[in-house]
Amino acid sequence: MLGHLLHMAGIDSVIIENRAKDYVIERVRAGVLEQGTVDLMIESGVGDRLQREGLFHDGVSINVYGQRRRIDLAALTGRRITVYGQNEVVKDLVAARMATGRPLHFEVADVAVVDLESNQPKIRFTHNDEPQEIRCDFIAGCDGFHGICRPSIPEDCIRIYERVYPFGWLGILANAAPSSPELVYSRHPNGFALFSMRSNAVTRLYLQCAPDEDLSQWPDDRIWEELLTRLGSDDGWKPNVGPITQKGVTGMRSFVAEPMRYGRMFLAGDAAHIVPPTGAKGLNLAMADIWRLSRGLAEYYQSGSEALLDRYSADCLQRVWRAQQFSWWMTSLLHRSDTGNLFDCRRQRAELEYVTNSPSAMTSLAENYVGFPIAHEFAGEASLQMMLRS
Ligand code: DHB
Repeated sequence: MLGHLLHMAGIDSVIIENRAKDYVIERVRAGVLEQGTVDLMIESGVGDRLQREGLFHDGVSINVYGQRRRIDLAALTGRRITVYGQNEVVKDLVAARMATGRPLHFEVADVAVVDLESNQPKIRFTHNDEPQEIRCDFIAGCDGFHGICRPSIPEDCIRIYERVYPFGWLGILANAAPSSPELVYSRHPNGFALFSMRSNAVTRLYLQCAPDEDLSQWPDDRIWEELLTRLGSDDGWKPNVGPITQKGVTGMRSFVAEPMRYGRMFLAGDAAHIVPPTGAKGLNLAMADIWRLSRGLAEYYQSGSEALLDRYSADCLQRVWRAQQFSWWMTSLLHRSDTGNLFDCRRQRAELEYVTNSPSAMTSLAENYVGFPIAHEFAGEASLQMMLRS
């Protein structure tokens, strides 16, 4: 997306990617786009297929111990969410990039970033067994949580905030028509489950499990039995069953690296921050980072001013921390904790009742879930200055 926004601004870029093209296009990941992400894609000319094939949802449901309760996102916020696979977004962006003829290299290896403090940082890598070096003005570290950019920053120049959760999600993709037009987040005595979808023929489902859950212990029949138990509601609703085509386990983590910049290298997306998946914020945060970075770079090349680039980290982090708090909260609201503390269990139940009954509480959930506009200012100028100084 950054490559595309830079192209639109007439700025040259080279994109390098470890993986093969088919891998990044086919690997199923998240699927909920905020309105701001959708608008950015449409306005920058990469939203045609999204508009045709995306599934627009005006609400979500929370199944509270068997009772399905709907939260009307559109009525509460005037905004809605769009279900469109992250890998479909990647597919559209790869196609847009290819159409520009600008460089995009897959299957590179041995990537290193050097001279980050200088005015000409460099990226070294191997491509088709040939060593390569790119000398550039700036590096965007969009290489994910396990990438090399963040670890290339000296330890005393970056601060890490982290929380690891004692559970994970077992996710499946099934060839089954979604039995509900909207998502269902469920809290059941056995733990959390989520009903989602990818198209009118494909259902996407998740189960709370151990962070290191052994998939070999989960034959398809056991997965369905558990999904039907946790998602089924008193009104008779349950997901449709069908052949499982993919399954995997993901751990859950909250993580922020500050600042999101070192010299001439800017971190964006998962390279700088990870949220647990419950609030569906990961891809949307990456899009918001990239929008800010593209604006900062466009301003720099137009006027020579580094003002927006200098604010990049602080501006991004305001949205990041809002999403961190929301994702942590959604996670703690909906998951079973094995501490065995009955007080915590009843307190969580009280919160579920509040959030599915009080219009004020529902509005708070809804405005965070649909996401704030991409250019939203989370703090006034005064508190921004404080943050920049601190
Ligand atoms: C999906 C993933 C999420 O993390 C979420 O909160 C909702 C939906 C999905 O993959 O469809």
